[in-house]
Amino acid sequence: MPSDTPRKPGKTDLSGSAVHRITSPEPVDDEKDFDRSLRPRSFDEFIGHEKLKDNLRVFIEAARMRSEPLDHVLFYGPPGLGKTTLASIIANEMGAGMTATSGPVIERPGDLAGVLTNQKDGSVLFIDEIHRLNHVVEEYLYPAMEDFNLDIMIDKGPSARSIKLNLNRFTLIGATTRAGMITAPMRARFGVVNRVGFYSVEEIDTIVKRSAGIMAVEIDDEGAMEIARRSRCTPRIANRLLRRIRDFAQVRGEGKITKEMARVGLTALEVDERGLDDMDKRILTTIIDKFGGGPVGINTLATAVGEEGETIEEVYEPYLVQEGFLERTSRGREVTDLARQHFGRQKPTDQNRLL
Ligand SMILES: Nc1ncnc2c1ncn2[C@@H]1O[C@H](COP(=O)(O)OP(=O)(O)O)[C@@H](O)[C@H]1O
Ligand SMILES: [Mg+2]
Repeated sequence: MPSDTPRKPGKTDLSGSAVHRITSPEPVDDEKDFDRSLRPRSFDEFIGHEKLKDNLRVFIEAARMRSEPLDHVLFYGPPGLGKTTLASIIANEMGAGMTATSGPVIERPGDLAGVLTNQKDGSVLFIDEIHRLNHVVEEYLYPAMEDFNLDIMIDKGPSARSIKLNLNRFTLIGATTRAGMITAPMRARFGVVNRVGFYSVEEIDTIVKRSAGIMAVEIDDEGAMEIARRSRCTPRIANRLLRRIRDFAQVRGEGKITKEMARVGLTALEVDERGLDDMDKRILTTIIDKFGGGPVGINTLATAVGEEGETIEEVYEPYLVQEGFLERTSRGREVTDLARQHFGRQKPTDQNRLL
């Protein structure tokens, strides 16, 4: 089962620009096997999001009792928080097979027909980045989700006609980082819609310790906490930092991850006390220094920092907003006093603003 689906390169591809960031919530290529080895396989192994898990357990149990497939499920939230993991756990707990694909990969109705006709009764179809499905394909998906029917057009011109295919009953699990880009009719066809949000530092701490156990690396409480505090409340980043710091501990220390070792590693990786990296710093200090703290429009900001607007919105902003460094207002992005304090900048008074 492919855990992370292929992405098509293109303007909106986020993996390319984020690859070299140590705190990128997107997976880096050589990380996929590593990711898989640490990925929880059951709800019991999945840390945090207790309410979400409890609800899903009930829905799964009920569906099994009725011998029906589970209702279609949509997960939305920033990258690296467990959407793909949850999809595969659901398939496991349903005792069902799972096919994974992604929005941009399903280019034509024919591609969709291929995927849908391959579904077995009760199986799970996972579509990552479902907001990037094209509209024509989306229209075909509606009756498939609702009635397990697919109307496809065959032939062209005067002999063109539509034929109706009956599909096996499957569960569609969609994942998206952009809930706002899911169309209303699409969203309405999901029986279960869940936000997968950021984790608490304590939950990340537990994840770090769990992963260290699987990797058989020794770590003490303070070492784990140090990594947890700087992981942007994101499991994927926590696992990545852990892996890198293991290297530092091996080469510079005695293999054990202590607070001291974690600090040495994190400093070398240029991840600051709050988990902010170079691009976060650039975004915030640019708003402060070039735009008087904001508000500044996303496109202007994107040009100023040399990153795509969409990437800023999807990858960087959620954490900066959640931690109170940045605010989104109707007039654009504005930094908060916390951001100014963090970078040791003074708030401009009306007087020196005029100078
Ligand atoms: N709740 C969790 N508990 C433990 N590990 C997790 C959890 N959520 C995510 N992870 C880890 O983080 C990695 C990234 O999760 P993933 O499901 O791929 O995120 P997303 O699909 O939201 O981008 C997984 O490989 C897994 O190791
Ligand atoms: Mg994913």
